Amino acid sequence: MPELPATFPAFVVDKPQGGTFSRGLRDFATADLPPGEVTVRVEWSSVNFKDGLASREDGRVARSYPLIPGIDLAGVVVASEDPAFAVGSAVLANGYDIGVARHGGYGELARLPSGWVVPMPVGMIARDAMVIGTAGFTAAMSVAALETHGLRAGEGPVLVTGASGGVGSMAIAMLAARGHEVWAATGKASEHERLARLGATGFLTREEVTGPGRPLDSARWAGAVDTVGAATLPYVLRTLCIGAAVASSGNASGAELVTTVFPFILRGVALLGMDSGNMAIEPRRALWVRLAGDLSPRAMLVDGESLAQVSLDTLESALDAIHAGEARGRWVVRVAA
Ligand SMILES: NC(=O)c1ccc[n+]([C@@H]2O[C@H](COP(=O)([O-])OP(=O)(O)OC[C@H]3O[C@@H](n4cnc5c(N)ncnc54)[C@H](OP(=O)(O)O)[C@@H]3O)[C@@H](O)[C@H]2O)c1
Repeated sequence: MPELPATFPAFVVDKPQGGTFSRGLRDFATADLPPGEVTVRVEWSSVNFKDGLASREDGRVARSYPLIPGIDLAGVVVASEDPAFAVGSAVLANGYDIGVARHGGYGELARLPSGWVVPMPVGMIARDAMVIGTAGFTAAMSVAALETHGLRAGEGPVLVTGASGGVGSMAIAMLAARGHEVWAATGKASEHERLARLGATGFLTREEVTGPGRPLDSARWAGAVDTVGAATLPYVLRTLCIGAAVASSGNASGAELVTTVFPFILRGVALLGMDSGNMAIEPRRALWVRLAGDLSPRAMLVDGESLAQVSLDTLESALDAIHAGEARGRWVVRVAA
């Protein structure tokens, strides 16, 4: 087994008790990694909305300090106490406490319980795994949940809110690839061309999907993926067709939900909650296999404009940009070459 280095480069956020908040790149002691069966040399991570929050003093997401954020990671096993994960094998991980209460992907080494580790699916490379990352995983959960609920291609348009962001862009690519007619609600008109390349065929402005309305408005959507929350979920609920569902994953605009019960009791609408953090490991591994297959967001993986690459020392600006709602697809983080 190769000797691990005594320290490794990591982007660390810290707030010592009674001290001031700080964040930045520094050397982190390998001995300070938590216990766990699998140690990974992290090659790639990504920037998700939650990472933006975990890296801010007012983010209310980080649950311990010092913390290496990064809620997802992909790399190679460099030490293992679990025969299921041989040294040298390619793995990824996302969710659970990673990057919020336990050191995550923004460091060259990560140590995890083997029950949180996902073997790299056949046909997927580490960079693509993190282009997909937690955002793509959540989009896949959403699409799978809508289809399990009964959504079928050809039954009508499917709405995606927060369309320019990570979950939104990924959901558009997946839904379109599966034959659905996809409409994108975005606050950024400049994004229409990119979202059309991913497969969106109709667009709504942010104004059209926010603000007050009647308890029920014209039924329009065969399904919806909502990543925005407070501002848009009430609109989505009151415009879903009879028996349709919305997969709700996000609170990019806020967490409160002001609605009536009429969509539920007069149209049988379903509100499906998406929690990527706590999905059990077996269905998580199975969904990653689908992400390399029938749920692959292929158009996102090859669309240069939908992807930006940062490194540990240029990560900070991406963390601030995602918090400011400036996402245009996904940022991948090159952690170790
Ligand atoms: N439940 C889960 O397991 C899970 C997993 C991943 C992410 N999430 C959540 O899902 C949401 C999206 O995550 P993400 O990684 O896709 O973030 P993101 O890349 O920042 O995308 C969020 C998008 O929401 C829209 N938006 C932002 N602020 C808004 C506002 N005030 N009003 C209306 N729209 C606004 C913007 O898109 P437009 O400009 O195109 O409208 C923005 O690009 C976040 O709340 C995140 O925490 C949840």
